[in-house]
Amino acid sequence: MLIAIPDVLSETELALAQSRLATAHWGDGRVTAGHQSARVKHNLQLAEDSAEARELGEIVLRALERNALFMTAALPRHVFPPLFNRYESGMEFGAHVDNAIRPVPGSARRIRTDLSATLFLTAPQDYDGGELLIEEPSGLRSIKLRAGHMILYPATHLHRVSAVTRGARTAAFFWIQSMVKDDGERQMLFDLDRAIVELGQADHPAIARLTAVYHNLVRKWGEV
Ligand code: NI
Repeated sequence: MLIAIPDVLSETELALAQSRLATAHWGDGRVTAGHQSARVKHNLQLAEDSAEARELGEIVLRALERNALFMTAALPRHVFPPLFNRYESGMEFGAHVDNAIRPVPGSARRIRTDLSATLFLTAPQDYDGGELLIEEPSGLRSIKLRAGHMILYPATHLHRVSAVTRGARTAAFFWIQSMVKDDGERQMLFDLDRAIVELGQADHPAIARLTAVYHNLVRKWGEV
């Protein structure tokens, strides 16, 4: 399931991110790639321990914590510190799947990448190409969102970024270990939650029982 999450960043946060990234030092994106993906990865990245990556990463994490749609859709257990990338004209990232397990920089922890997220930081009219192409079971999906919006998708899917042919595309990207590992179970919980929210507007007494079902399923499927 692909879920677009609008307005993850406020206008102020987005403007700050864009100004920091305009003057940041970009290095070769292959430093965080696995063996297969390094061969097809041609982009730039901020060093994970750079001041800009840390400051902007904190802003993104705080924005996610206040985002109810993200919380409901991802049921996050751990969120990987956001990374930042840039595709200039001619740069692309061929088909790959993200590593299943990633060490968290600066800690002994590792996270399982259940979900991948891309938070777009450049307005779509400022570049051509650079679509995120995700191979869903139902077919190829092409994603290019407004700046400040984010796409959440199962990390199990092959994906790529098509070549940028004009301008430059910057984005934050990261992974989430979910309390509910299975994509199908997580999707059912998401659908149930949405239905309960809709029914809540009618104030029906059965809502309490449906809410109990939701929490009992989280108890059954969730890990903390
Ligand atoms: Ni990837």
